[in-house]
Amino acid sequence: MNNLKIERDGAVVTVRLHRPHVLNALSGELLAELLDALRPLDQDPEVGCFVLTGSDKVFAAGADIKEMAGKTAAEMAAEDYFGTWEGFTTLRTPKIAAVNGYALGGGCELAMMCDLVIAGESAVFGQPEIKLGVIPGIGGTQRLTRLVGRAKAMDLILTGRTMDAREAESCGLVSRVVPDDQVLPEALRAAATIASYGRPAVTAARECVDRALETGLRDGLLFERRVFHALFATDDQKEGMTAFLEKRAPVFKGR
Ligand code: CAA
Repeated sequence: MNNLKIERDGAVVTVRLHRPHVLNALSGELLAELLDALRPLDQDPEVGCFVLTGSDKVFAAGADIKEMAGKTAAEMAAEDYFGTWEGFTTLRTPKIAAVNGYALGGGCELAMMCDLVIAGESAVFGQPEIKLGVIPGIGGTQRLTRLVGRAKAMDLILTGRTMDAREAESCGLVSRVVPDDQVLPEALRAAATIASYGRPAVTAARECVDRALETGLRDGLLFERRVFHALFATDDQKEGMTAFLEKRAPVFKGR
């Protein structure tokens, strides 16, 4: 692997983006490596959470501008450029973005594809594509607007300005802000917590929360209720509720 460093500690897999010479710019090769590495791990029942991180200076400074600068519109369409990133969102294992430094353009979009975003106080978020004569292309106009609302999304996307971690937290892009040196430890603790729960409930929770961004309230509530009912077919539901009543810690089996 040329662009990533991957470590596994029990149920938690940490992926470090590693293209320091271009501030972790997200190339096609990087994405291919990411998906090749994560797809088998996504099928591993012993893996409970992915943590995606960068360096102290940068999470990712966006899509690789050098890679796409000379392409024609026909080439972009023929390759369905950026279409492959959907593969990242279809991974069912929870994903935490642990962000230090710049999360710009595709870097911000990648963070938004994760389930939690834990940011250091010095982290910087933005969609500066307008400055390059383009627009966000990996979900920035869609996910950012759903997460932070139209007013803030328009501001960021039309002016290309960045926002700091506190602003990103206050508008709903970031889950937690912590001191810079606590980003990865905090993300690993959150990952271990998530991984300790039953996989069916975790998957159901993710799918229901994401459904809220995609559907109307009535359909969403029905979807949630049906998924809630279905969890009563799992051993983990019986174990979780029995353990509570017996005043002991549950032992989830992931089924
Ligand atoms: N793609 C390719 N190379 C990049 C890059 C990117 N997104 N971002 C930085 N680099 C390269 C620079 O070209 C530079 O290379 P050289 O040393 O060969 O000159 C190297 O990384 C270091 O960058 P800087 O010298 O610019 O570092 P800096 O600390 O002065 O500035 C920065 C940091 C503010 C993040 C600045 O690099 C920057 O503005 N980067 C581009 C941010 C951007 O526009 N992102 C959006 C990309 S398009 C996109 O993402 C579309 C989409 O929707 C997916």
